[in-house]
Amino acid sequence: MRKIRITGTGNYLPELVVTNQMMSEIVETSDEWILTRTGIAERRLSSGEPTWYMGAQAARLAISEAGLSGEDIDLIIVTTITPDYYTPSTACIIQSEINAGKAACFDINAACTGFVYALDMAARYLMSDDIRHILIVSTENISKIVDYSDRSTCVLFGDGASAVVCSRPSDQDESAMLATVLGSEGQGGQYLYSKALDVKHPFIKKEQVWPDRFGQQDDHYVNMDGQEVYKFAIRALSDSVLKVIRKANVSIDELRYIIPHQANSRIVNAAARRMKADPQQIISRMSDFGNTSSASIPICLDELIRSGRLRRGEKVALCGFGAGLTYGAAIFIY
Ligand code: UT7
Repeated sequence: MRKIRITGTGNYLPELVVTNQMMSEIVETSDEWILTRTGIAERRLSSGEPTWYMGAQAARLAISEAGLSGEDIDLIIVTTITPDYYTPSTACIIQSEINAGKAACFDINAACTGFVYALDMAARYLMSDDIRHILIVSTENISKIVDYSDRSTCVLFGDGASAVVCSRPSDQDESAMLATVLGSEGQGGQYLYSKALDVKHPFIKKEQVWPDRFGQQDDHYVNMDGQEVYKFAIRALSDSVLKVIRKANVSIDELRYIIPHQANSRIVNAAARRMKADPQQIISRMSDFGNTSSASIPICLDELIRSGRLRRGEKVALCGFGAGLTYGAAIFIY
C-alpha cells in the first residue's frame, strides 16, 4: 500500500459555452444526434487562453485548498497532449507562474489516461523521503487539434484543466493508493492520433522523406476511427476496473465512486454493465464538458470533493483510456 493523500484540488473551465445547437450551425449535425450518440449537451472552449494559463489557474486553487504555497511543491507533473510549446515543458511554465521554485518539473503524454498515469507516479514518488508534496496538473486545449469541419470529431471535445496536490500523509492517516493497473496497446496507435512536425532541414533529400506512419494528411488534426476506439474503450474500462479491484482486494460495492474518462455516456454505461457496477456509483459529467482528455477525470474528482459528496476514508476508482492506445485504473482511499 502506498501512502498518498489528496490535499487540494482545483479546476479551470473556460467561460465560453458551446452548445450542440451552436455546433449544428457549423457542421451538419443535430442536438439530438450528439445527445443520443454521446451524452454531450455542451462543452467549454478556450477563448484564447493557452494551455499553461488554464493549468496555472487550476494549480493555484489546488495549492491554496491544500493550505500550501508554491514553495512547498517538490514536483510538478503535467499531463497534456496539447502543450503550447515543444519546450519548455508546460510544467516549467506553470512552475514559474505559481512560484514553485524548488520543484522538479516535467510533462507526460499518456493522452486521456494521463491523469491515472500521473497519480500512479505520484504515489510512487511519495515513497521517497525527499518528496512531500506533488502537484499534478491536467490541462488541455483540445480545440487546438480539432478540425471544426469534421463532424465526427468536433462535437466530442472540450477544453479545460484540473489540478490535484498529492501529499505524504502521516502514519495514522488511512489515505492511500490501494492498487493501480496501467497498460498500453501501441499497435492500436492508428485509431486515434494527431501529427506533430516532420523531419525537415536543408540537407535532407526529397527521396529521403518518410511516409507518415499512420498515413495521415499534412495537418495536426485529431484523426479517429470512432468505432475501433469505442470497442477498445468499453473493453479497457471494464477490464482495468475489474483487474484493479482484484489487485486492491476490494469488492465493487465497496467503491463510493467510479470515475471513468468522460468520452461518451454510451461507453461508460456499457462498461458499467460489464463490470456490474451500480449506476449510482458512476460519475458521468460529459453532458456539460464533453471530452477534455486527461483533464476529464480530475475535473470530476474536484467537483465531488468541493461539493462534499466524497468524504475522507471513502474508496474511489478512476479509469482512463485513450490514444496510444493507453488505459489505466486506480483505487485509492480519499
Ligand atoms: O478519449 C477517447 C476519444 N474517443 C472516443 O471516445 C470515441 C469513441 N467512439 C465514439 O464515441 C463513437 O464511435 C462516435 C460518437 C464517435 C460515433 O458514434 P457511432 O455510433 O459509432 O457513429 P458512426 O461512426 O457509426 O456513424 C454513424 C453515422 C454516420 O453516417 P452514415 O455513414 O451512417 O450515413 C456518420 O457519418 O453518423 C454520422 N455522423 C454524424 N451525424 C450527425 C458522425 N458524426 C456525426 C455528427 N452528427 N456529429
